[in-house]
Amino acid sequence: MTKHFINLDDLSNDDLQQIIDQAIALKKQHKAGEISNTLKNKTLAMIFDKSSTRTRVSFETGMTQLGGHALFLSDKDIQLGRGEPITDSAVVISSMVDCIMLRVSSHADINTFADYSSVPIINALSDESHPCQLLADMMTYQEHNGSIKGKTVAWIGDGNNMCHTYMQAAKAFGFTLNIATPKGYEPDQSFVDQYTDYINLCKDANSACNDVDLVVTDVWASMGQEAEQKKRELDFEDFQVDKNLMSQAKSDAVFMHCLPAHRGEEVSADVIDGKQSLVWGEAENRLHAQKALLLYLLG
Ligand code: CP
Ligand code: NVA
Repeated sequence: MTKHFINLDDLSNDDLQQIIDQAIALKKQHKAGEISNTLKNKTLAMIFDKSSTRTRVSFETGMTQLGGHALFLSDKDIQLGRGEPITDSAVVISSMVDCIMLRVSSHADINTFADYSSVPIINALSDESHPCQLLADMMTYQEHNGSIKGKTVAWIGDGNNMCHTYMQAAKAFGFTLNIATPKGYEPDQSFVDQYTDYINLCKDANSACNDVDLVVTDVWASMGQEAEQKKRELDFEDFQVDKNLMSQAKSDAVFMHCLPAHRGEEVSADVIDGKQSLVWGEAENRLHAQKALLLYLLG
């Protein structure tokens, strides 16, 4: 059966951990100048209907480093963007390439694409989840602090795609997730119900950060929500991760953000650019984590 990576829970906990360990090994090999051609003659199609810096650069570079090729397909250029059915696009593109990565607005479209694809599908961010980012985040935590099992993580801000994937990661990697969102911005109830044993819904950001090992946030307005920016700035004003909030966490706690970030909104400049921040390593690790994912799916 074709393996897909649409949500973290598509893979067993052991397979996820194996990908993280492999990513750390691949990073060391790359830094040591070792060359690998494991994916020689393999092509990854990358379909984007939203902007991207990290996801595009990391997948494209990752395929190059593994000896393969990546094909950037903007919805503005391919017939999918002009209304060709997702099902037809999936059959045709998957008949020519070895793996397909999609960043599209609707999570349901990724599932439909996977149903009609003959090759592995990777979710590179949907309105529901962002599993590739969590591979990099879990790798980054492990590199800096060792296993995240038994630790406590605070999610501050929007109960969005990143928050949902942190809820899945809490189960898969064995940590507790404290979640603080403004009223009306909670994660989807289906996620709350499914991951209830691994999360605490907190009354405010301060209590969510109390004694935690890792603090994570994301933009207040995600891609596609730009029209709500002003309203969200007001609704989220008590949810900025600043020095004061970080001081509630353990003294050796670290900070992560998937980026792009808005300094002065969801995070203060002194936190994201400060000593506790792991954001640059986290961004770089997208490359190594996704190389490990590609090898897992195509290996
Ligand atoms: N974190 C992340 O997915 O970044 P991009 O939107 O730049 O790909
Ligand atoms: N929640 C953000 C994540 C960007 C990587 C968005 O969906 O725009």
